[in-house]
Amino acid sequence: MQRGEQLYSGKAKSVYESDQDDALILHFRNDTSAFDGERIEQLDRKGMVNNKFNAYVMEHLEREGIPTHFLELLSDDETLVRRLDMFPIECVVRNIATGSICKRLGVEDGVDLSQPTFEFFLKNDELHDPMINEYHIKSFNWADDEAVEVMKVQTFKVNDILSKLFADAGMILVDFKLEFGRQGANIFLGDEFTPDGCRIWDAETREKLDKDRFRKGLGGVVEAYEQVAQRIGLDI
Ligand code: TMP
Ligand code: ASP
Repeated sequence: MQRGEQLYSGKAKSVYESDQDDALILHFRNDTSAFDGERIEQLDRKGMVNNKFNAYVMEHLEREGIPTHFLELLSDDETLVRRLDMFPIECVVRNIATGSICKRLGVEDGVDLSQPTFEFFLKNDELHDPMINEYHIKSFNWADDEAVEVMKVQTFKVNDILSKLFADAGMILVDFKLEFGRQGANIFLGDEFTPDGCRIWDAETREKLDKDRFRKGLGGVVEAYEQVAQRIGLDI
């Protein structure tokens, strides 16, 4: 399938029309960004690795009962997805405290949470993705009551499903971010699930195997993504 008109270009993916009205083509680029786009670098092979990683995880989630926008892999770095109207919201679940929650709440880095916690953020780089609550979402009509409920329930379900997938491969799913959208009456998981948007640690050594390697200048970023992919059973 040929890419049509480019509709949108994000920090790591571009979105194109496809030859179906209700489907779009996602192009996973090598661009890797941190600190709300302040730092951007090209990492060889990352587009391909993330495209295949995302397809594998989305197919796993579908099998486990999560409706996703994934339709089919088109090439090494392109995927066909359902066309969604995206909510301008990021849904984050954390199993271990690290990253922004430690700065915000002054809690110790690396502490296991007694139960997973959930946060909404507004998707807005200029404002550095501020944390918002359900009242903000409803007052500004960013999503309706049903969508808020679906986003919370589905994000926790994804946490259960993927925590197990990574645990079975000797890794910890520390935290992750999801985005959802609507097609007609239905709400689907959209965007992507890749090591760009989550934290994954080796269970024994707690070595970071995700985009924190890039944020912290640890090197071996794509190699770590490939290691995670191979450990959960992907043949890259
Ligand atoms: P945080 O600790 O920076 O709030 O991030 C929590 C998790 O969500 C982490 O796995 C990274 C992911 N995330 C993104 O991928 N993009 C974002 O814009 C935000 C706010 C979080
Ligand atoms: N918000 C994403 C991150 O922190 C991308 C970016 O900041 O540019 O990884």
